[in-house]
Amino acid sequence: MEYRTLGRTGLRVSVIGLGTMVHAGHFGPMKDEESLSAIEAALEAGVNFIDTSDAYGAGYSETLLGKALKGKRDKAILATKGGNIMVGPNRGKTDFSADYIGRVMEESLKRLQTDYIDLYQLHNPSVDVIRNGDVWELLERRKKEGKVRHYGVSINKMEEAAAAIESGRCDSVQIEYNLLVQGPADTVFPLAKEANVGIIARAPLRRSLLAGKLTLADQQRFQGEDVRARNFAGDVFAKELKKVEALRFLEKPGRSLAQAALAFCVADPAVGVVIPGARDAKQLRENAAAGETHLSEEELAKIAQLWRSGFK
Ligand SMILES: NC(=O)c1ccc[n+]([C@@H]2O[C@H](COP(=O)([O-])OP(=O)(O)OC[C@H]3O[C@@H](n4cnc5c(N)ncnc54)[C@H](OP(=O)(O)O)[C@@H]3O)[C@@H](O)[C@H]2O)c1
Repeated sequence: MEYRTLGRTGLRVSVIGLGTMVHAGHFGPMKDEESLSAIEAALEAGVNFIDTSDAYGAGYSETLLGKALKGKRDKAILATKGGNIMVGPNRGKTDFSADYIGRVMEESLKRLQTDYIDLYQLHNPSVDVIRNGDVWELLERRKKEGKVRHYGVSINKMEEAAAAIESGRCDSVQIEYNLLVQGPADTVFPLAKEANVGIIARAPLRRSLLAGKLTLADQQRFQGEDVRARNFAGDVFAKELKKVEALRFLEKPGRSLAQAALAFCVADPAVGVVIPGARDAKQLRENAAAGETHLSEEELAKIAQLWRSGFK
């Protein structure tokens, strides 16, 4: 496993990390034994960066992580998030006020069974919150108290990433980056490099599409809490599947498409860590092994050409 420094945090993170949204049932039903086996396999494989949120299963993913890391807290660099209201009358809204974040951070610490969070991230804040929020003073106080070691944002739009970097407040930016969403490499990564802000590449498998195992027939099983019900609604899914076919040339003996997809993210030196979700120990081991895989210059050039041409 290769390790990199995550921007100015100075944290030495494995290039392949673990995302735990799947463990809360956001990719269809899960068994706790499978989730726990994935986390255990991560630590065994040298994967040390684990990302969660108080929004995943309204804290369920954090609770599982707390259990899995009991007695092993020092083996993991723990990143969590807050700001999305998951229970009560305001469910579905966001709150990035200092009062709210201060309260939910304490709840995250309890669920994670730890007295410090390595990286606390605001979960999809707006540009206005990034520029004018009162939450930043709170985060700085919590840092001084030792409850969080570093803080940053997880964002949806490039302009939010740019605002976060320009604000000078964020140690890290988490953003979707993968073979099918390459925009951040041109717009966000140069800014992050210049400011020494760590980049965390999320959804590196484009929510399982880039594992190359889905067909059109899968669309009808994406229901309810499965994030793919929303992400792949209508004809989006068929269009994305077509693009995946154009990327099949990356599969070869000893290297799966999922591994090539992760190697693509890691190939950009601006990326500190990619955080694929892993349902179980098997997926985790396959993903971790991508930390040893490299794409050739020719492969990277063909990928760039496909991206520029809209996968024609
Ligand atoms: N707003 C935000 O802050 C935000 C948004 C999205 C993601 N994230 C973070 O990024 C992490 C990763 O994103 P994600 O989980 O949405 O998407 P992802 O990592 O692109 O895809 C995860 C899914 O890919 C499949 N998979 C993983 N490894 C595989 C393998 N080796 N072989 C075959 N299939 C494999 C699994 O699907 P199956 O379950 O179908 O097997 C898994 O649930 C999240 O867990 C979360 O930590 C944050």
